Amino acid sequence: MDYDIKDIKLSAQGKLRIEWASNNMPVLKLIKKRFAKERPLNGIRLAACLHVTTETGVLMDVLKTGGAEIRLCASNPLSTQDDVAASLVKDFKIETFSIKGEDTRIYYHHINSALGLKPHVTMDDGADLVSTIHKNKQDLLSEILGGTEETTTGVIRLRAMEHEGKLKCPVIAVNDAQTKHLFDNRYGTGQSTIDGIIRATNKLIAGCNFVVCGYGWCGKGVAMRARGMGARVIVIEVDAIKALEATMDGYELMPIAEAAKIGDIFLTTTGDVSVIRKEHFKAMHDGAVVGNSGHFNVEIDIPSLEELSKKKRTIRAFVEEYTLSDGRRIYLLGEGRLINLASAEGHPASVMDMSFANQALSAEYMVKEHRKLENKVYSVPKYIDENIAKLKLDSMGIKIDKLTPKQEKYLSSWEEGT
Ligand code: ADE
Repeated sequence: MDYDIKDIKLSAQGKLRIEWASNNMPVLKLIKKRFAKERPLNGIRLAACLHVTTETGVLMDVLKTGGAEIRLCASNPLSTQDDVAASLVKDFKIETFSIKGEDTRIYYHHINSALGLKPHVTMDDGADLVSTIHKNKQDLLSEILGGTEETTTGVIRLRAMEHEGKLKCPVIAVNDAQTKHLFDNRYGTGQSTIDGIIRATNKLIAGCNFVVCGYGWCGKGVAMRARGMGARVIVIEVDAIKALEATMDGYELMPIAEAAKIGDIFLTTTGDVSVIRKEHFKAMHDGAVVGNSGHFNVEIDIPSLEELSKKKRTIRAFVEEYTLSDGRRIYLLGEGRLINLASAEGHPASVMDMSFANQALSAEYMVKEHRKLENKVYSVPKYIDENIAKLKLDSMGIKIDKLTPKQEKYLSSWEEGT
C-alpha cells in the first residue's frame, strides 16, 4: 500500500472514533448494506479530496464496500485528524495521503499522489482535484467519467469553469442538494464553528459582540447559534436580499467598517477574498478575535495583519496573537483556515450522514449514468435528495403525512379557484 500519514500507531484511537461516528450515520449504514450486495462501484478507481475526519472515514468504508479502489487526500492542510488517517490505512486498507499541518507543497504533493490512481471518479471538497487535473494533468481526463463536489466554494469554481467552456467532465454539485446545504451548511457549520471558537479560545460567547460576515446558509447557522448562546450578533452582507432577510431574522446589519470598531469576535463565511482587511484591523479594539469558516483562508487578509504587526506569537493552540505598533492585540484563529475543522472536529456525524449519503449515491449515479451527461455541473437528482430525507426521518423515528388522492388532484389542477 502507498500512503503518507503522520503516525500509523495512532490507528487504534482513530478506529474507535470512526466507529463512534458511524453509530450516528444511519443513512450511510443502509447504503453500505446495499452496496455490499450490489457492488455498484466495482472496478472503479475513485480519488477523494475531503477533510480527513471520522465521518469521511465512514464514507470511505462505504465506497470501498461498494467495490471502489480509493485514494484519499486532504482538502485542507489543517483539517486532517491524524488518528483517522492512520486507521484508514491500517484497518480499512485505504491509501491515504494527509497530515495535519502539512504545508502547501506537501498538500499538492498529496493531491498528486491521490491522482496517481488515475481515477475514474473524483470526489472533491473545494474542487482541487478537478482544477489540478484541468491545469496540470489533462491526460487523466480520458479515463474520467465524472466527479462530485461537496462545497459551495467548489461549486462556484466549477460553474466558472463551465461558463468559460473549460470544464472537461461532468460534475455533480452535492452541495446544492437540499439534504446537504440546508442541514450541513446551516446546522453543521453553525454548531461546529462555535465549537471551534470555544475550543480554541475558551471565550464566553454570552454578551459579546459577535460579527458574522456573510448570511448564506453557513452564516445563518453561525448567527443562529451565536445568538442562542447569548451574543449580540451583527451581520455583514453585500447582497440586499440576504441583508433584508438577516434584518427580519432579528439581527443588526451594518458595514464591516462600522462593525470593526465594536466587534469582539469576527467570523467570515462569505467564500470571497479580503472581507476583513487592513482598515478593519486598524479599527479593532485590543483583544478582538478573528476567525474563518469559509473554505479557503483568503477571507481574512492575513498579509496585511502581518504588515501592521510588530510582534506575533502563538498564545494557545490555534490562536496567533498579533501585536500592532500601538500595542493593540488581535487574535487570529487557525491561521485563517476553517476553524470548525482546525480546532474542533468539523460537522457532527449525524449531519454529515446526509451530505455523504449524497456523495455515495452521486458517485453511484455518475458511474451508471455518465454516458448521458455532458461536461457540465449537475444537481443531485431530486429522487436521491428526497430519498435521503425519507431515510433520515425514518432513522429518527419521525413519521409524516401523505397527500390524500383529493389533495393530489387539487394540486395538479388549475380549474378550481375562489
Ligand atoms: N466538512 C465539515 N465538517 C466535516 C466533517 N466532519 N467531515 C468531513 N467534511 C466536513
